[in-house]
Amino acid sequence: MATESPATRRVQVAEHPRLLKLKEMFNSKFGSIPKFYVRAPGRVNIIGEHIDYCGYSVLPMAVEQDVLIAVEPVKTYTLQLANTNPLYPDFSTSANNIQIDKTKPLWHNYFLCGVKGIQEHFGLSNLTGMNCLVDGNIPPSSGLSSSSALVCCAGLVTLTALGRNLSKVELAEICAKSERYIGTEGGGMDQSISFLAEEGTAKLIEFSPLRATDVKLPSGAVFVIANSCVEMNKAATSHFNIRVMECRLAAKLLAKYKSLQWDKVLRLEEVQAKLGISLEEMLLVTEDALHPEPYNPEEICRCLGISLEELRTQILSPNTEDVLIFKLYQRAKHVYSEAARVLQFKKICEEAPEDMVQLLGELMNQSHMSCRDMYECSCPELDQLVDICRKFGAQGSRLTGAGWGGCTVSIVPADKLPSFLANVHKAYYQRSDGSLAPEKQSLSATKPGASERYEDNT
Ligand code: GLA
Repeated sequence: MATESPATRRVQVAEHPRLLKLKEMFNSKFGSIPKFYVRAPGRVNIIGEHIDYCGYSVLPMAVEQDVLIAVEPVKTYTLQLANTNPLYPDFSTSANNIQIDKTKPLWHNYFLCGVKGIQEHFGLSNLTGMNCLVDGNIPPSSGLSSSSALVCCAGLVTLTALGRNLSKVELAEICAKSERYIGTEGGGMDQSISFLAEEGTAKLIEFSPLRATDVKLPSGAVFVIANSCVEMNKAATSHFNIRVMECRLAAKLLAKYKSLQWDKVLRLEEVQAKLGISLEEMLLVTEDALHPEPYNPEEICRCLGISLEELRTQILSPNTEDVLIFKLYQRAKHVYSEAARVLQFKKICEEAPEDMVQLLGELMNQSHMSCRDMYECSCPELDQLVDICRKFGAQGSRLTGAGWGGCTVSIVPADKLPSFLANVHKAYYQRSDGSLAPEKQSLSATKPGASERYEDNT
């Protein structure tokens, strides 16, 4: 599977209403017919939050919601982008001079990340131009990875327009790296699942080297995604990068404490690997080495024997240079315990004990607690929604994705699903104070599938 490239399907566009509509809109926008189409799905992370960038495995699956792009390569060296959603204005640039503005997370910048990733991979300075019409239905800023789906889709669009080929794994790695041009220091989970997902299974995604293993979820339960309706764009604030930096600093302090060569260490997983001990033992090391009181930059510099200038320029990212408080103990405790929960979750899915749904639910509940209390990436609305989901029949419920808003994912016994949906709808979406608009939705994830391409057979 590691060498397989994304599928290309020959379809009758006329038989697929969404493709047909996109084709017609493309025609009225650009006055021509698309040459091919590419889709990339969003994802829901079932368990394993904020640990991919620390080197640990995560357990996501793709969702039906996706980004679909209609494409026509052109000879003009101009990249013309349009979006079916009028909220996202047209954009055009020279394909030979891709500039990504980190200061504003505008939609087209995500597209450009995908283009730039492929361009750089092949060392190309001259790219052919393209007309592209983008159609996305993943709710934005909801923790379901709409931005990575756009980066991945644009990467596959560019690859296809160039007539080149890459494996799914290579594409996932290129897109994970190139999305960082936006300024967020994400791990590789979102891009990996967008390319490596398969229908009917969740995946354990492991890093260095990147690989994906099927995890069969219990057949008697449904995973329900519910949107808290609090929008969180991780590129618009520094919350996300602060967490990445706290983990990086925690890794360095732990390495120093254990007399390892700390200056090369970037990830919490590297400390564990170098020490050759279990995750449970890493939790004990964390308790010995770090203190629960927040660290300030001066203390960190003292511990590592470096100057403030070195801390700012050699360790921290540009948007975290001025942070004054770092909670290293709490972040490391979350990461090591969450990494252990992912492995337990997979083991339970494999062994399938009778009380499997309950056991998986407990792990999801613990994950939410740790995200809320140790990682501080929840928000009151997410906590409330999680409580409501549990009250109405979920065996477990947790925030999914980066957090600070966005969606929850709950494990619900299949026979309780209709009453669960009705009650959660009433309790969260139809609140008597009317503070949430009725169109806000809860979604259920059923049919995942990986990124793929379509050629019109009509
Ligand atoms: C975002 C990032 C991912 C991951 C999650 C949190 O989606 O892009 O790499 O870190 O947040 O688990």
